[in-house]
Amino acid sequence: ETDVPDLKDALDVPFGVAIDGRETTGPSSELVLKHFDQITPENDMKPEEIQPTEGTFTFDDADVLMQFAKDDGLRVYGHVLVWHSQTADWMFEDPTTGEPLTTSDEDRQLLRDRMKTHIDTFAEHFAQYGAYGEDNPIRAIDVVNEVISEGEDDGLRRSEWYRILGPEYIRLAFEYAHEAFGDGVALFINDYNTEQPAKRAAYLDLVGDLLDEGVPVDGVGHQLHVSLLQPINQIEASIEAVDALADAKGVDLVQAVTELDVAANTGGESWTSLPQERAVSQGYYYRDLFDMLRSHAQDLFSVTVWGPTDARSWRSEGFPLLFDGALQAKPAFWGSSTRR
Ligand code: XIL
Repeated sequence: ETDVPDLKDALDVPFGVAIDGRETTGPSSELVLKHFDQITPENDMKPEEIQPTEGTFTFDDADVLMQFAKDDGLRVYGHVLVWHSQTADWMFEDPTTGEPLTTSDEDRQLLRDRMKTHIDTFAEHFAQYGAYGEDNPIRAIDVVNEVISEGEDDGLRRSEWYRILGPEYIRLAFEYAHEAFGDGVALFINDYNTEQPAKRAAYLDLVGDLLDEGVPVDGVGHQLHVSLLQPINQIEASIEAVDALADAKGVDLVQAVTELDVAANTGGESWTSLPQERAVSQGYYYRDLFDMLRSHAQDLFSVTVWGPTDARSWRSEGFPLLFDGALQAKPAFWGSSTRR
């Protein structure tokens, strides 16, 4: 579409989209370049993609995105260094027996070394696109993702990382990332449901502890995989709570909306196309959400939608994005680009 306003001018904050190689050519790439000034690799920088077997690094798919960003002046939000999901099993297995790593000193050191090697090799590879903090497109990265589990006493997910290393793995990931990328790449912690009060509380506890320990956390990410039923004032309360935490600790923290999508099938409906009435409600939702986000522009590193079109969404049954499968602007698009 050429007769619609550029979204990146409508937001007051860098505007990102999750993509893969399909969006680097043809009409989809034109849509990305018109409306967005930042990309997140939807899958291509995940641990299992970068290092499917120990010591074998596969950067081809991520390089396609980096070259696209470099050529067209887009920023890249890196995703993700340390995660429990989409990480190959070998990471947590003994290299000779294939048995799960134990909590012996030796196995713990092996896992620390693997984490450091993964992060160092990642950073060294992408350094070919420019110096970090200068002309490298990577401006931020999710260092850890989805580490919170608000039901646990210490609020931390019982992942393989946690089972073997305990809570220290989070601090280590930030320290290794800081050594590898320096000060020019904003180091983020990222999670979903951060708008829910219990999850928010656990998230704030962890981030507060990390800041107290001097861990180099620069940014706090809110995935925002939400639905039309999610009150926007709860989302705002989380942004304000993180802001208040940073003030209380006397540090500069930025925040990002990292994976926004707004499912319209609130009753679990399975549609073949989005009903008009729901499309309109979704338009108003995006309008109100983006109005709220604009009012916090000074705290936001970026806002990213998790995919260019409904047809490319991981939640496609919810028709959660701004453009339809024919690349046409939905009411969600018009809401996002309309200032109330
Ligand atoms: C999703 C991708 O969109 C899918 O293509 C993939 O099959 C699974 O992962 N939280 C995250 C993202 O941090 O990496 C996930 O992305 C969605 C949930």
